[in-house]
Amino acid sequence: MDSKLALPVGTTLDRFIMRKEKDFPYATGELSQLLRDIALASKIVNREINRAGLLDIAGAYGNQNVQGEEQQKLDVIANIRFIRAFRNGGEVCTIISEEDEDIIQTGNPHGKYIVAMDPLDGSSNIDVNVSIGTIFSIYRRKTSQGCDGDLTDCLQRGVEQVAAGYVIYGSSTMLVYTTGNGVNGFTYEPSLGEYFLSHPDIKTPKTGKTYSINEGSYNSFPQGIKDYVEYCKSNEYSARYIGSLVADFHRNLLKGGVYIYPSTLKAPNGKLRLMYECNSLAFIIEQAGGKATDGVNRIMELEPTSLHQRCPLVIGSPEMVDKVTEMLKKSEAALVQA
Ligand code: AHG
Ligand code: MN
Ligand code: MN
Repeated sequence: MDSKLALPVGTTLDRFIMRKEKDFPYATGELSQLLRDIALASKIVNREINRAGLLDIAGAYGNQNVQGEEQQKLDVIANIRFIRAFRNGGEVCTIISEEDEDIIQTGNPHGKYIVAMDPLDGSSNIDVNVSIGTIFSIYRRKTSQGCDGDLTDCLQRGVEQVAAGYVIYGSSTMLVYTTGNGVNGFTYEPSLGEYFLSHPDIKTPKTGKTYSINEGSYNSFPQGIKDYVEYCKSNEYSARYIGSLVADFHRNLLKGGVYIYPSTLKAPNGKLRLMYECNSLAFIIEQAGGKATDGVNRIMELEPTSLHQRCPLVIGSPEMVDKVTEMLKKSEAALVQA
């Protein structure tokens, strides 16, 4: 069968990955295996998340589980699960994780890939039964195989990503990813333990009427962002802000909209992290026909200088991102003239 034919809704993730691999004549199968490792780890994390409320009840007698270990927070559990999957898988040499200050060596010096991840995004929503997620980026290492990865491997620009994706643990659990050939979304069927293709070749609407920003910080936004918020209000746009980047992004990706985390007085570089939040979602939105900037520059071209560096983020439907950029530019120009 021609591997380039579109695969039908309902195709399992494993079959999808296998078919896509055939489009690359020199593929060794390692990236495919790495994507499968991520899918497997996400199923385990999904299980832990679904049990979260029950764990509280089970832990009410003292915060210890049956092995006598202290109960851990879900973002720590997710971090452990994903790292374990990469250690066991063998394709990844080095990991950047939001939960660890330094790079993590997997003990697989022959691994070709670097992973940057936010194992659990939306931490303030973990305890209140609201959608949360996992975000990841995959890079090819720069150093040669056979030794540990180093900072030159880890601090690559977003344009160097070979794959990126996220898992949203929501009313259903979905895995959405790209390898640079469009974006596909898979929905998890828990009774079968499988992801199935449910959203083939996702394209984001060119524009929308939803804006997502934490308006509580309005007073400390740059003038251009204040102007944009006023513009949204005067056009009766809908404000939607869950506080889980993955969930806000996912809704806007499918329905059209813009997500903004600007610089604020408290956080001059914004809050979100370049390596495992902004770049990953920027790759996905661009593959879906959208845009991602820091207000001025394309996110994927930013030069990373540290593992956990932050940057402002304006991401979503292309015409909406353009409008934000235009308003920021205008207010900057007015400031220079004044
Ligand atoms: P994380 O839970 O991984 O630290 O990320 C939280 C992020 C993001 O998910 C969300 O959009 C944003 O923080 C919310 O921040 P504010 O509460 O400042 O709006
Ligand atoms: Mn996050
Ligand atoms: Mn996180």
